[in-house]
Amino acid sequence: MKKYFITTLLLGLIAACSNNSNNNNNSDSSSTTVAPAANDITANPDYKKGLALIAANDCLTCHKIDEKVTGPAYRDVANKYENTDANVKMLADKVIKGGSGNWGTVPMTPHPALTEADAEQMVKYILLLRNK
Ligand code: HEC
Repeated sequence: MKKYFITTLLLGLIAACSNNSNNNNNSDSSSTTVAPAANDITANPDYKKGLALIAANDCLTCHKIDEKVTGPAYRDVANKYENTDANVKMLADKVIKGGSGNWGTVPMTPHPALTEADAEQMVKYILLLRNK
C-alpha cells in the first residue's frame, strides 16, 4: 500500500515536471520569434553614407550624437527638424555657409569645400537620429 502511494506520487511529480518544461518551451519559442526592431536606422543606406562623410570631416570635433559640445547634439537637431527635402536642403546650406542663431550665439564654421550633395547626405544621416 505504501509502495503504491510512493509510485503515484513519483508519477505525479514526473507529470508535473514534464508539463512545466513544455510550458517553458512554449514561452521560449514565442519569445524568440519576436521580430527584430522594426526601425533599425543603421539598415538605412543614408545612415552609413552620411556617417562615413561626417567621420571624414571635422564635424565630430564640435558635435556628438547625444551630447552638446560646441555645437548641438545631433539627436537634438533631428528632433527639432522634420526629415523633409526642404529641411535637408536648408540645413545642408547652413553646414556649407556656417552661421549661428538657431542654437545660440556660437557660430558653426563654414565648410565651403563640401559639395551640396555631400552636405545633404550628412544631414540625411543626422535627421535619422530623431527619437521624439
Ligand atoms: C567649429 C565647430 C563646428 C563644426 C566643425 C561643425 N559644426 Fe555644426 N554646428 C556648430 C554650432 C555652434 C551650431 C549651432 C549654430 C546655430 O546656433 O545656428 C551647429 C549647427 C549644426 C546643425 C544645425 C543647424 C541649424 O541651423 O539648426 C547641423 C545640421 C550641423 N551643425 C551639422 C554639421 C556638420 C555636418 C558638420 C561637418 C561638416 C559640422 N556641423 C561641423 C558647430 C560646428
